[in-house]
Amino acid sequence: MKHIFIIEHLEPKLWPWCIIEYKSISGIVGKSNLWFTNIDKRDIKKLSKYGKVFSESIKDMNLENACVLDPDSEVLLSPQNSKKFQHFIFGGILGDNPPKKRTSPELTRFIKNAETRNIGKEQFSTDNAVYVVHEIHNGKKFSDIKFKDTIEIGINKIESVILPYRYPMINKKPRISKELITYLKKHPGFD
Ligand SMILES: C[S@@+](CC[C@H](N)C(=O)[O-])C[C@H]1O[C@@H](n2cnc3c(N)ncnc32)[C@H](O)[C@@H]1O
Repeated sequence: MKHIFIIEHLEPKLWPWCIIEYKSISGIVGKSNLWFTNIDKRDIKKLSKYGKVFSESIKDMNLENACVLDPDSEVLLSPQNSKKFQHFIFGGILGDNPPKKRTSPELTRFIKNAETRNIGKEQFSTDNAVYVVHEIHNGKKFSDIKFKDTIEIGINKIESVILPYRYPMINKKPRISKELITYLKKHPGFD
């Protein structure tokens, strides 16, 4: 069974930060296993090298064997309980502090027939949420993944940016794309 990772874009625009995260997701799951939904027609080309792009929303697709990743879900994703799912749906939502809890009202409640799962209660960026779900789906237990909450990225000798999210650790380093670090160095005010 082919497993599809689906990002329902829920930001008012396709911000550069979104494109960086979506490209990073493509590197995790592979272009042929990734869909972007709810994409403005003008932006389709910008994402087509990273996955399959739909202007249609996932809310209108009525998919079977679907799981919405929602921090407010009651059930933790495990290698066993992830097996029955074919479609993993994520909110294409940028992180915010404190979390605005947009996933349930803007995504989950519209997806009929879907179950929900969490990967803990802390907030991951969408690309890191995909990374964790991909790891669990491939057999790793949530409790065997190491995390760091809140990281600080040095911008220059004086300034740094605090990212108040949960990061999976890979080889003792928090997982963050090089491209995002470059972007933050150029745009420390996220402009
Ligand atoms: C940056 S998060 C959005 C968090 C945001 N504060 C909210 O309003 O829900 C982007 C997406 O990653 C997934 N995600 C992030 N952290 C998660 C968690 N702890 N459990 C399940 N899904 C998570 C969800 O699909 C979420 O919509």
